[in-house]
Amino acid sequence: METMEKDTVLIDTHAHIAGCDFDEDRDEVLDRAQAAGILAVIDFGTCMDISEKSVALAKANSMVYAGVGIHPSDAFPMTAADDDRLVQWTKEEKVVAIGEIGLDYYWEKDSERRALQRSIFIRQLDLARQLHLPVCIHDREAHGDLMTILKKEARENFGVIHCFSGSLEMARELLKLGWHLGIDGPITYKNAAKAPEIVRAIPAERLLLETDCPYLSPTPYRGKRNEPAFIRKTAEYAAEFRGESPEDLSRQTTANARRLYGLPK
Ligand code: NI
Repeated sequence: METMEKDTVLIDTHAHIAGCDFDEDRDEVLDRAQAAGILAVIDFGTCMDISEKSVALAKANSMVYAGVGIHPSDAFPMTAADDDRLVQWTKEEKVVAIGEIGLDYYWEKDSERRALQRSIFIRQLDLARQLHLPVCIHDREAHGDLMTILKKEARENFGVIHCFSGSLEMARELLKLGWHLGIDGPITYKNAAKAPEIVRAIPAERLLLETDCPYLSPTPYRGKRNEPAFIRKTAEYAAEFRGESPEDLSRQTTANARRLYGLPK
């Protein structure tokens, strides 16, 4: 595998640095990211509390941008006041997306709670559409309902299916609907048999690189807490799968991140 040149730059388009996993050493983690050539980190809220922290982190740190939203695992019956808070946050200059939103049927088995996930997912898709903001979508073992909602309720939304975990057929369907696909550490795992084929199938202009840190560390950091600097490994694997140089892949995915999230050059 080709090792990336030292001066190659990247953007981590999905992180959770504002969460408590980084309370002890957040500044060091961001310093290491900068030293590793990470130009920007897009940090996503998962509940009201973390969304607020994410917005504050973006304000305080020049390399961080924020997304605000309610993750399916933190689903609660949202009110108009909650919508208003999300909307207010999006007025901040460095808040660039609604997310992380979506469906998680892996952790949620209860049918009423799953129905709540669907309803607040649709609600936040509506908000994003009104705000003309991209969405960052989580989907774990909810592929069927995700596709139904995207086809029925999200024809005018745009954004990324983050940490894509579906089949090649599903990837093709999402691409046809205009979505970007985000890839993370798991593409580097030995048991990720279908990853190379899927990573190859994504058109260059729809591919985004993410860490989802603190989760999903790429090889050889698997089992450790993930951080933005580790995204270089995921980029090297993705480049290898696609038969491209890591530099070309970095250039393309960095341009994609800038375009989708409207980041300054
Ligand atoms: Ni995430």
